[in-house]
Amino acid sequence: MTLEEKLGQLTMFPGASGQTGPAVPPAADSAVRAGAIGSFLSIWSVRDTRRLQGLALQSRLKIPLVFAYDVIHGWRTVFPVPLGMAATFDSAGTAQAARIAAVEAAAAGVHWTFAPMVDIARDPRWGRIVEGAGEDPYLGSVLAAAQVVGFQGDRGQLAGAAPPPTDVLLATPKHFAGYGFAEGGRDYNTVELTERTLWDVVMPPFEAAIRAGAATIMASFNEIGGTPAHASRWLLQDVLRDRWRFGGLVVSDWTGVAELIPHGLGDSATVAGRAIRAGVDVEMSSTLYRSTLAAEIRAGRVPIAAVDSAVVRLLRAKHALGLFDDPYRYSDSTRERRVLLTAEHRRAAREIARRAIVLLENRATGGAPTLPLRKALRTVAVIGPLADDPKSALGNWWGAGKPEDVVSPLAGLRRALPNARITHVRGAPADTTDTTGFAAARAAARDAEAVVLVLGERQDMSAEASSRASIELPGAQLALARAVLQAARASSPAKPVVTVLLNGRPLAVPWLADSMPALVESWFLGVEHGNALADVLLGDADPGGRLPVTVPRATGQVPIYYNHKLTGRPANANNHYTSKYIDLPWTPLYPFGFGRSYATFAYSDLRVPATGRTADSLVVSVTVANTSSRAGDEVVQLYVRDDAGSVTRPVRELKGFQRVTLGAGERRTVRFTLKPEHLAFTALDMRRVVEPGAFTVWAGGSSAATLEGRFRLSGDTVVVAPAPPPYR
Ligand code: NOJ
Repeated sequence: MTLEEKLGQLTMFPGASGQTGPAVPPAADSAVRAGAIGSFLSIWSVRDTRRLQGLALQSRLKIPLVFAYDVIHGWRTVFPVPLGMAATFDSAGTAQAARIAAVEAAAAGVHWTFAPMVDIARDPRWGRIVEGAGEDPYLGSVLAAAQVVGFQGDRGQLAGAAPPPTDVLLATPKHFAGYGFAEGGRDYNTVELTERTLWDVVMPPFEAAIRAGAATIMASFNEIGGTPAHASRWLLQDVLRDRWRFGGLVVSDWTGVAELIPHGLGDSATVAGRAIRAGVDVEMSSTLYRSTLAAEIRAGRVPIAAVDSAVVRLLRAKHALGLFDDPYRYSDSTRERRVLLTAEHRRAAREIARRAIVLLENRATGGAPTLPLRKALRTVAVIGPLADDPKSALGNWWGAGKPEDVVSPLAGLRRALPNARITHVRGAPADTTDTTGFAAARAAARDAEAVVLVLGERQDMSAEASSRASIELPGAQLALARAVLQAARASSPAKPVVTVLLNGRPLAVPWLADSMPALVESWFLGVEHGNALADVLLGDADPGGRLPVTVPRATGQVPIYYNHKLTGRPANANNHYTSKYIDLPWTPLYPFGFGRSYATFAYSDLRVPATGRTADSLVVSVTVANTSSRAGDEVVQLYVRDDAGSVTRPVRELKGFQRVTLGAGERRTVRFTLKPEHLAFTALDMRRVVEPGAFTVWAGGSSAATLEGRFRLSGDTVVVAPAPPPYR
């Protein structure tokens, strides 16, 4: 290969749509024919991928192109957004959704997905919190691995199976690393992170994804320890390749290489040299490798070996995909017709969407719980700007999803209650203070037997470049909710009123929490949103979803997360000089892991061995009983605290969970194995260790669980992993 051909391979060009940064004009056909482009992103139809592949095969070396896309939560069958998926606390369902997404997208010519996003996020102002699994590194790690396996099939399939399958996507854990800690929740912002938090909170999901066999990884826009990730040899070489033995491909984020210039690292040639030497293999959407590296190499400032190894890694990925045998093997319209949005995929989407729904409140109305609603209702008022907004139900990054495939909340209720008269009033827009629709909303609430308010954020109010300074309900929606509840109550105190939220981040909604008879968190659930919602509202499915993120009472509480550190003056209502606010409680509106079911559950018999050795695995068990007269879902959660360590430790950390379905009156004993890796943390000398001493465990249905046990470990400090290479 000539140097120019090599640099062409390392250049990834975008299609005209799905551009998420400085605009890039479409690639000229002549550039593809000249071998000046090695891969594309955001180009995906059978027709377009075949056409471009044909051009690539006219190049001198006939190296096939690889096509990438952000297949985030489904392709044509759109599943819940990742934050909603995390609320399922279900790794099998999460893997299944990724698998279906891969099967569908691969038929449309996509080889590579920029997912999963495994960034831990503690600041819900950050719009991209919707794209990840929330605030917890343990839940995030389990779901990261599940998605990698779902997208790639089992690891062996990408490692040389002959012939390689045509229904897998290369997975890309992103954004490596620390992007979720953008200061102020402003996207693309600077990150300040201690090395200990980096290793204990940010890195575990990446490591889990890589252990699960992720073929590629994406660098993050932010700096870390003073060096932008795209220029960090420490991150991409010392950590990724040397410590984790990652042999796959590193891709830049959109113009991430060129953005090293405004980061202040130097001119085009300097930053391209830094990125390739750091270990960014493929340059997305900027073309500095192509325009500057040949001269840098010839001048001896950049070693050719850096380019060669990047090219080898890309060619290996193309080989693993079988593209050298048949460059067209993915793009297949017959297969596309067979696999897109099949009845089976829709069924899976409905089941998974149901499992993502979180019931936050369910007070009594007229002497009985407000939910589930009676199926004999004759009239229902469905009110709110998001009740019939199929695009929002799809969430951001909808792949090949189509609004016309979506069952909106309104449509779902209409299907489920075919004999009822269902009126629909928008009442207010999602984001302005226009109240002209209030009168019609009040009238509808007055005239119906039950009211379902559908409020929240449109899908474009979260995700990339959609951070919000306020996480309260936008526009006039809160005033609409008050007006509707008042009108409903005035007409009949026994009228059920339910608020359903759609959103991509936790919303601070204290008034809804205090005043609504029932409050349901439904995220953006995808094509089956309305059916899944109706299943839950009418009691055909139990709301077993749990919060993967803490819900604040107000934006001013942010950051607020359950696994915060022990402090010298923990909040104490009776002591002024402790860690709290004078104008708000210190507690969140809803804690991490919280959610109600229609069934009720009681926990007992937490069994913990009283003692163990630091190198041991301990089995902890707890009995959970369904104390109600109906079947229901519960997520049994296990939390641990290291009571005293050589460095400060979080107040508690999730170390196990299991979602169970229990029949009326059924009991089950759930077992968890606590291994040294669960109890380990980054000590003063930066080694990952388990220290002897006392530990507290809690088991229950949320991070506020109170059933408590203790154990004591003796023996020497056990080193689970050596110290990582220090920042450089
Ligand atoms: C920018 C985003 O940060 C990244 O997550 C995404 O994969 C790329 N754009 C490509 O769309």
